[in-house]
Amino acid sequence: MRYTLDYIKTYTEDFEPEIGIILGSGLGELADKYQEFAIPYKQIPKFPHLAGVEGHKGQLVFGNVAGRKVVMMQGRMHYYEGYSMEQVTYPIRVMKELGVKTLIITNASGIVNKSFRPGDLMVITDHINFMGTNPLIGRNNSKYGTRFPDMSEVYDKSLIKIVDAAGRLLNINLRHGVYMATSGPSYETPAEIKMARTMGADAVGMSTVPEAIVANHCGIKIIGLSCLTNYAAGVSSKKLNHEEVLRTANEVKDKFTALIMMILQNIK
Ligand code: HPA
Repeated sequence: MRYTLDYIKTYTEDFEPEIGIILGSGLGELADKYQEFAIPYKQIPKFPHLAGVEGHKGQLVFGNVAGRKVVMMQGRMHYYEGYSMEQVTYPIRVMKELGVKTLIITNASGIVNKSFRPGDLMVITDHINFMGTNPLIGRNNSKYGTRFPDMSEVYDKSLIKIVDAAGRLLNINLRHGVYMATSGPSYETPAEIKMARTMGADAVGMSTVPEAIVANHCGIKIIGLSCLTNYAAGVSSKKLNHEEVLRTANEVKDKFTALIMMILQNIK
């Protein structure tokens, strides 16, 4: 961690980000637009990156967005890409060390709750970790948090109120729901989606939960926002494909970006 921070601080100097944002599918432009400086992951000592992943845009982007000092992850590490859970969540601890107090985690997900529609935005109110592992497995580093962290309010209720208020101001009909994470990379079967619904999930995806667990462990407040890109398997008769996910995420990106900007203005 020390080498990582020493290197990053040669760029940031006295720039102390207070808010972190993990930019999911379709939201990369926010980072392009507000970038003051950026550091490619592969330049940062100890920072995870896999050599040779096609089209992998991975960098930490620093800037002032809506008057707030933020650090954005343009591109995230997914468990299904072969990163360890430690690698997937290493950037969260880096953000903690840089002074981040609030983390906005965004993603794209499939619809489990049949009353939701593709293109809707969902405020994550809670999650179900169905990845079959946990990023906190292993020796606990008590510098960050306790061995058995409480998880009864991972997604901060007072921040959800701020998100809802931002949604009302922008006339966006925000959904609320439980996000279930699987390891991926295969999409779910219809039987798995039926199980997810029975277990209380409203949306399903392949990210976010590891980062949320590690951020919660080290006392970072979390906002989770999901772009519902498609009906999950068996919810409609259509087959799933990544192009559809990207297409919907792209269609919604202006609305999603406006929401994030409004949230940034209103976070205390
Ligand atoms: N399932 C899992 N992850 C996803 C989906 C889905 O249907 N859509 C976008 N990410």
